[in-house]
Amino acid sequence: MMNRLAVAASLLAALIIGCDKGSESKQPAGAHKPLVVGFAQVGAESSWRTANSESIKKEAAKRGIELKFVDAQQKQENQIKAIRSFIAQRVDVIVLSPVVETGFEPVLREAKQAGIPVVLSDRRADVSDESLYTTFIGSDFVQEGRRAAEFLVKKMNQKANIAELEGTPGSAPANDRKKGFDDVIKNYPDMKVLMSQTGDFTRAKGKEVMEAFLKSPEGKNINALFAHNDDMALGAIQAIEEAGLRPGKDITIVSIDGVKGAFEAMADGKLNCTVECNPLIGPQLFDLVEKVAAKQSVPHRVNVQESVYTEDQAKEMLPKRQY
Ligand code: AHR
Repeated sequence: MMNRLAVAASLLAALIIGCDKGSESKQPAGAHKPLVVGFAQVGAESSWRTANSESIKKEAAKRGIELKFVDAQQKQENQIKAIRSFIAQRVDVIVLSPVVETGFEPVLREAKQAGIPVVLSDRRADVSDESLYTTFIGSDFVQEGRRAAEFLVKKMNQKANIAELEGTPGSAPANDRKKGFDDVIKNYPDMKVLMSQTGDFTRAKGKEVMEAFLKSPEGKNINALFAHNDDMALGAIQAIEEAGLRPGKDITIVSIDGVKGAFEAMADGKLNCTVECNPLIGPQLFDLVEKVAAKQSVPHRVNVQESVYTEDQAKEMLPKRQY
């Protein structure tokens, strides 16, 4: 009897030890904690931005990265608050897509003092000390503005009365696209910008501002439109139609981004050209983030590859567009 008890006791002990080993094996020694990344996104102002946020969330999930995502609703103060909270939470890497170019230096200094590397995504920040961010991945916005102007110069035979819908004031894409556009058209004295105002990168504002442009004393002379993004151009197209004019014909339109809605408008003959600005940068971004977290060297500037699409390519390209 005593022997049987002893055997049962040792079996039970073996079982308990076995169970313990089992639970240990779920956390093998040397297992990595998932990378924790804080991302301060601009907002959800455009179709481009929605595609950009989706690409980033999807890629983080695919790599098992814990992403703390903050939508700043186009407000710099929300981004500054988000960065401070990422610092307090001791995330591994902070990613920032700055709403505007200036005013981030103090908070970026706080991140640096806390030893948390910062990666800029999509938009540049204007800082006097380049070591405040490790790398910047984004499009060449000046080049995009140049490409839009080159299209318009050719299409309008070097003579146009242009209305311009600008992006968010103080943002890198608004500043740079305007610069690139102006750099080209200044060489053509008959390419004139009659009016220029911000539509804040949104469809609703693009429509509202275009309505005001068309009602202004010079409105009847507009025969070309440069919109700093597709969403504003799509809003303006509505305003042009409501004013009894034909977008894409009475008013030649070029915009930037290359979203599906722009391809649909081109296929309908209402938009003449979209200059691509690729939002699907999740994979490239997290390649950089992982290297930065592993303290590997990365280039200080990484460009995104882009093209230009005109109305004659729209029908063929439309089914292939991913955003
Ligand atoms: O920063 C990229 C720009 O921001 C896109 O062109 C625009 O659509 C977005 O809102």
